[in-house]
Amino acid sequence: MITHDKIKKIKEIIKVYELFRTPGGKIISLPSGKGGVGKTIVTLHLGAALANRGFSVAALDFNFALPNLHSYAGDMPGFTLTHYLCGLCELEKVEYVRVRVDKHQLHVYPSRSIVDLERKVELEKLPELLKHMKSRYDYVLIDLPPGVSKYSIYPVKLSDCVFIVTADERASYLDATKLSKMLETMGVTISGYIVNKYEKKMSVLKNVICEIPLDSRIKRFPDVWNKKLFKPGFLKKFVELSEKMVQIC
Ligand SMILES: Nc1ncnc2c1ncn2[C@@H]1O[C@H](COP(=O)(O)OP(=O)(O)OP(=O)(O)O)[C@@H](O)[C@H]1O
Ligand SMILES: [Mg+2]
Repeated sequence: MITHDKIKKIKEIIKVYELFRTPGGKIISLPSGKGGVGKTIVTLHLGAALANRGFSVAALDFNFALPNLHSYAGDMPGFTLTHYLCGLCELEKVEYVRVRVDKHQLHVYPSRSIVDLERKVELEKLPELLKHMKSRYDYVLIDLPPGVSKYSIYPVKLSDCVFIVTADERASYLDATKLSKMLETMGVTISGYIVNKYEKKMSVLKNVICEIPLDSRIKRFPDVWNKKLFKPGFLKKFVELSEKMVQIC
């Protein structure tokens, strides 16, 4: 006897299959073990750097309980990713914020907190959402919550490329290593590590693709991209990181 739950599961598997078969852009996720290592800030600056290479780029806020992207984008649209994922609007209604970064634009998709919406996210809607994004953008960057909940792990499993973000400190490196082992046992390939808040401490990681220096100006997104003079050195790091992403993904 095929139950309603089984039918739902089969439909979800078909959606995942369709997502992986959809031609189009690359979905890149940036998970971390520890919180506060700089996933959100790295997602935005990397998105800006990719946009300035001429690609169409979307940054999605998948931190459904404690979202942050709207505070950098400067706007919270009426219909957000969480509205769709909680069944409050159709996919076509989801809005984005156009953020100017130098000569180009980054499309930021904020999420209204599920705490405000007083709803639960239906994770089975993620494949459809990502398929929609993949068909519209060259690169889709996912800003994740920290740690190893289903809300961080499921989007990673649906991504084309995964880069673990860590801060330059021992506890953060240890958690990044644990996360990496856990993801690899699930069959996820880690394309590299991004070390943020870099102060030239001793790294225990191999396959570090970029070191982003500790610099308090990094939070001035998007303004630092739009300044004519005195561009901080970390922007060059993001430009280099974007070049590597294009090669790797
Ligand atoms: N390279 C850096 N130099 C200085 N400060 C930084 C750097 N990167 C991030 N920060 C600061 O660290 C704090 C945390 O950054 P961010 O919110 O991007 O981390 P996160 O990993 O997304 O956090 P969470 O796990 O809570 O989502 C912010 O105040 C941010 O401005
Ligand atoms: Mg964050």
